[in-house]
Amino acid sequence: MRLPFFIILISSLLISSPLPARSWKKDEFRNCNQTPFCRRARARKPGACSLIATDVLISDGNLVAKLIDKNREDPATDLDPVKPLILTVSAYQDAILRLKIDEDQTLDPPKKRFEVPEVIIPEFEAKKLWLQKIVKEQIGGDSKPSSVVYLSDGYEAVLRHDPLEIYVREKSSGNRVLSMNSHGLFDFEQLRTKKEGEDWEEKFRGHTDTRPYGPQSISFDVSFYGSDFVYGIPEHATSLALKPTRGPGIDHSEPYRLFNLDVFEYIHDSPFGIYGSIPFMISHGKSRGTSGFFWLNAAEMQIDVLGAGWDADSGISFPSSGNRIDTFWMTEAGIVDTFFFVGPGPKDVLRQYTTVTGTPAMPQLFATAYHQCRWNYRDEEDVENVDAKFDEHDIPYDVLWLDIEHTDGKRYFTWDKALFPNPQEMQRKLAAKGRHMVTIVDPHIKRDDSYFLHEDATKLGYYVKDATGKDYDGWCWPGSSSYIDMLSPEIRSWWGERFSYLNYLGSTPSLYIWNDMNEPSVFNGPEVSMPRDALHVGGVEHRELHNAYGYYFHMATADGLIKRADEKDRPFVLSRAFFPGSQRYGAVWTGDNSADWDHLRVSIPMLLTLGLTGMTFSGADVGGFFGNPEAELLVRWYQLGAYYPFFRGHAHHDTKRREPWLFGERNTELMREAIHVRYMLLPYFYTLFREANTSGTPILRPLWMEFPSDEETFSKDEAFMVGNSLLVQGIFTERAKHVSVYLPGEQSWYDVRTGATYTGGSTHKLDALEESIPAFQRAGTIIPRRDRFRRSSTQMTNDPFTLVIALNSSKAAEGELYIDDGKSFNFKQGAYIHRRFVFKDGKLTSSDARNSSSGKLMFNSDCTIERIIILGHAAGPKNALVEPENLKLEIELGPLQLHGRSGPAVLTIRKPGVLVTNDWTIKIL
Ligand SMILES: *[C@@H]1O[C@H](CO)[C@@H](O)[C@H](O)[C@H]1NC(C)=O
Ligand SMILES: *[C@@H]1O[C@H](CO)[C@@H](O)[C@H](O)[C@H]1NC(C)=O
Ligand SMILES: *[C@@H]1O[C@H](CO)[C@@H](O)[C@H](O)[C@H]1NC(C)=O
Repeated sequence: MRLPFFIILISSLLISSPLPARSWKKDEFRNCNQTPFCRRARARKPGACSLIATDVLISDGNLVAKLIDKNREDPATDLDPVKPLILTVSAYQDAILRLKIDEDQTLDPPKKRFEVPEVIIPEFEAKKLWLQKIVKEQIGGDSKPSSVVYLSDGYEAVLRHDPLEIYVREKSSGNRVLSMNSHGLFDFEQLRTKKEGEDWEEKFRGHTDTRPYGPQSISFDVSFYGSDFVYGIPEHATSLALKPTRGPGIDHSEPYRLFNLDVFEYIHDSPFGIYGSIPFMISHGKSRGTSGFFWLNAAEMQIDVLGAGWDADSGISFPSSGNRIDTFWMTEAGIVDTFFFVGPGPKDVLRQYTTVTGTPAMPQLFATAYHQCRWNYRDEEDVENVDAKFDEHDIPYDVLWLDIEHTDGKRYFTWDKALFPNPQEMQRKLAAKGRHMVTIVDPHIKRDDSYFLHEDATKLGYYVKDATGKDYDGWCWPGSSSYIDMLSPEIRSWWGERFSYLNYLGSTPSLYIWNDMNEPSVFNGPEVSMPRDALHVGGVEHRELHNAYGYYFHMATADGLIKRADEKDRPFVLSRAFFPGSQRYGAVWTGDNSADWDHLRVSIPMLLTLGLTGMTFSGADVGGFFGNPEAELLVRWYQLGAYYPFFRGHAHHDTKRREPWLFGERNTELMREAIHVRYMLLPYFYTLFREANTSGTPILRPLWMEFPSDEETFSKDEAFMVGNSLLVQGIFTERAKHVSVYLPGEQSWYDVRTGATYTGGSTHKLDALEESIPAFQRAGTIIPRRDRFRRSSTQMTNDPFTLVIALNSSKAAEGELYIDDGKSFNFKQGAYIHRRFVFKDGKLTSSDARNSSSGKLMFNSDCTIERIIILGHAAGPKNALVEPENLKLEIELGPLQLHGRSGPAVLTIRKPGVLVTNDWTIKIL
């Protein structure tokens, strides 16, 4: 959440930087032109890089080389000799290439440049391949050599020495997949001593950045081959397929900015950087497939997507055909630590990326259900009333959230004694219905000598320091605040301890946490954040780790909750800021959106992009944070939000109350139905969370992830897949009469409400219905559901399942169901059920999807299958035979009914009585 305008005004007056009355939002943030490293980098011409590789050899299983400037080879004749850089190429299983470039540490640079710790998972190093030999190669008539090393049986990495270039190619065809510096834009500003008269300071809107280490930026070009579109690099409120930012016909576009910022009322369709940053780009094309490029660097980054022929000025024209997409990456500090992923399928790239940064954590079941939030539920009575109303209106929900006003004067880990006198009792009442509570804990600590947390943090020296070495003091919700230095493992561990029941008084085991404002947001800081010359442990400047600050905070909080529960229960922590690896610690949301149709629409590309970059547990505030949604918009938002991996309604302080029962009976009914859809699909979602947890494949998927050769899907971002089985199309306009849906693939699709069939590979124009947005089950899939409505997900754990079988043209289908205790880590020792359902030759078979040796612990369930619905089967069969029970059942023939609509007759088998844990078959007779 973000402060109202008047507070900005007040806090800005405090630092005497007057705000213009208009367009202040935009002016508050730097554009590329106002950012010297970005301006310098963008001014470079192709071919400007004069580095060449020398001394190429194998060392410790890596290819290592020195990069020297060929124009300055003789230091004796050069007044300012440029020291060599060290390049290291390493190969990992699954054809992952890692390329690092840093200063030569043996030459004593003024400072060790920052390498981002604890993002790469420890298991990754074990996948390293020890390179044995370098093959020298002459390309074309060119007499200068290249060094080639093994990457996998299908791929190899090539280092061209002069001019410098690194690329990955397919062995069989010789075709390139990805390359760096093919256009000679590489630049690396080495740390050096200040020259006489040189001024390193930078000023922006009354803030001075002392920049004691001077220029240290890095930039280079990366090319993707066989590419039709590039995606990724969140977080921006823009389209899924990234648009070119430079090139003919593109005027004054900003690059995509990656800089974690608390942007007030962000605008849709903008390359502007908002709360989180993941420097991971994915390319997809019909001819080659998918590839990915990841740069592990936490400083401000700016990325240009170059349109075809972008650099006509310099006389070098890039082909507009040949399906290559060129990109240009710039950062203020840090090192080159990059990863090349070859794919070749979309899911392969996700597997490769999460091999490096980790797969998403498995959430508790309750966290995958509906969350109710508002800034703020006023007091215990308000909480009790809201909770009671959900029951009264028969609307399930799982979590009630408390924003900053629940605290004693914005002192986290405390309660306002007048408003929340009995927090434990309040939580216990919710827990009795299987519900949970979430409270907010932000990283800014009120500078109040009588506040225990401030006292401890000050005494222990745990705050981030300003450029002069004093505890940094910035303005945030509590007023004057300091910020915990989350870079230090020791401080993170101390922070984690704050969540123990002894330290966090009033907390109970059903209480979980929300980390907001962790970009970090500083109301009176430059660009509403921390000064770049602030200092973290080990003398690391804030500029070097800015984008990872919120990540370490999220990590510390999640680890604290695990410790609180003696490592037994999975944590739940929602964070606004994020960085690569955040997927291991919890959920994120898209921050402070607005109650308008454009924000409803942009939520889909934003969440698809997050899923593509590992952060699949994500959602947008349902209803829009700012402003008052019309009932129709709110209903549409619930209908769409029911498919967000993280599903939460939230609203700003100044908005009208908007709980689902406040808009008249019909709208209450519509919102109830939307939330019911989510609860029915919880078994499917939970199975998808597990798939993400094991493979990195996201829950929400762009259509091209499931239909990678269907070009029609490549830039679609109003429809999306939930897993491989459901396609959902949003409705993003007011009083829509019709909605067009493109259904990909050669198989058909079934309307989930009626079972009506639609052909794949074409666009269908449908009536826009009030009661739901279009959703289709793909032929050839089986979706598990739980159709009994309860108060919360935790009260559904003993409920039976429904299987919806959607047959394809060969009258076959398959699907999966994953179940565990929904809470503990026991699933990691094998305490789970994972079933595979296959329908073939008129027979449904349930078998174990796990490997028999996959664990020590067991998980058991008495749950049964209560209903089987078969879509796409001709009428005729009258009976079903359940084996091994040898039980004969009647098959019912009748229309499917959901939301009052009905369609063609489908087959239904009721109460087959089989247990989900068992092997069985059901034969259609
Ligand atoms: C799945 O999630 C758990 C945390 O919930 C995590 O410890 C584990 O590493 C993840 N990945 C796999 C493959 O289990
Ligand atoms: C039908 O679905 C089954 C199971 O998903 C699959 O194996 C089969 O290839 C599909 N047949 C057609 C014609 O798509
Ligand atoms: C089970 O084993 C097969 C073959 O070894 C492997 O491909 C698969 O990934 C394993 N599945 C799980 C869930 O571990």
